[in-house]
Amino acid sequence: MTKETLLQMARNTAAFAYAPYSGFRVGAALLCSDGSVVTGANIENRSYGLTICAERVAIATAVSTGRTTFRALAISTPDANEPVAPCGACRQVISEFAPPELPVYCEDPQRPGVELIQTTVGELLPFDSLQGLGNDH
Ligand code: THU
Repeated sequence: MTKETLLQMARNTAAFAYAPYSGFRVGAALLCSDGSVVTGANIENRSYGLTICAERVAIATAVSTGRTTFRALAISTPDANEPVAPCGACRQVISEFAPPELPVYCEDPQRPGVELIQTTVGELLPFDSLQGLGNDH
């Protein structure tokens, strides 16, 4: 599976976003260790604070279907004008199930399937003092 394919799957998933309040659709695609891909889209709520980001939807779906180890994460934000990386809450949740080396690809909104940012979980969440208390991935 190439990162372009994973990004394209994230983009396809962004179409399922439920984002009537922000109008900002996000799709995430997680490449699991077994080679399968789990996707998620953001789900907003009229009580705004209950919104769930695409990344956490993907993690929750993967973990609750028995997939707890991953090879890569791709994120698509077709409504963005600027690069978008996971929010702080998502970084913490992703890091529970991913080692610092896990590659994270953030799509260039102007070029579907092409990454604008290529980073890692460790770069997104440095100085993670609680890392040793979590699972060992
Ligand atoms: N959002 C995500 O789903 N993932 C991100 O990485 C950034 C933010 C969602 C939350 C909300 O529904 C909308 O994008 C605007 O913040």
